[in-house]
Amino acid sequence: MRQLDFRWARLPELTALDWHAVIAARERVFVVEQNCPYQDADELDLASWHLIGTVDGAVAAYLRVVDPGRKSVHEGRYYAEPSIGRVLTAPGFRGHGLGLALMREGIAGCARLFPGQGIRISAQSYLLDFYTGLGFAVVGEEYLEDGIPHHEMLRPGR
Ligand SMILES: CC(C)(COP(=O)(O)OP(=O)(O)OC[C@H]1O[C@@H](n2cnc3c(N)ncnc32)[C@H](O)[C@@H]1OP(=O)(O)O)[C@@H](O)C(=O)NCCC(=O)NCCS
Repeated sequence: MRQLDFRWARLPELTALDWHAVIAARERVFVVEQNCPYQDADELDLASWHLIGTVDGAVAAYLRVVDPGRKSVHEGRYYAEPSIGRVLTAPGFRGHGLGLALMREGIAGCARLFPGQGIRISAQSYLLDFYTGLGFAVVGEEYLEDGIPHHEMLRPGR
């Protein structure tokens, strides 16, 4: 499996074609694959850094980093810290370490963009080990978000 080519961008820097590829990948995973009708494209996309990982020009992995101090209208959450979300590897690219590489680049990007700050996430519960291995620790009890079990996790600033 090839390495990911990474690009960091704010939404206005992306072309319509770039953004279409991102939204198509997000909907394919979070709406269709996870069988979950929810508001995927939201106002936080305008307050985020988008990390796009491509292989031969195709979106193979993606995450966004929401700016610190933003409230999610749809999810009713407020995080004082930068928050990584919408973490995905496209189905045909899984199991080759791309998700891990994506998260490492996301964490490194947070350190550059928001030095010294922690990172707070709302993690799907089936991936607690994945995120724990990346330095995140569970905060509080499990909860349902759009019907899917989640845990809040924090990676302390360093
Ligand atoms: C989670 C996801 C990004 C992992 O992508 P990936 O490229 O397959 O991950 P990697 O190959 O880098 O695997 C890294 C580690 O992730 C964990 N992992 C990956 N898929 C997993 C799964 N289905 N269940 C549990 N752990 C998993 C494992 O710990 C794995 O380590 P291992 O290979 O030593 O077992 C991908 O499965 C995905 O897009 N899932 C659907 C979207 C989603 O749920 N996103 C998370 C929202 S919080």
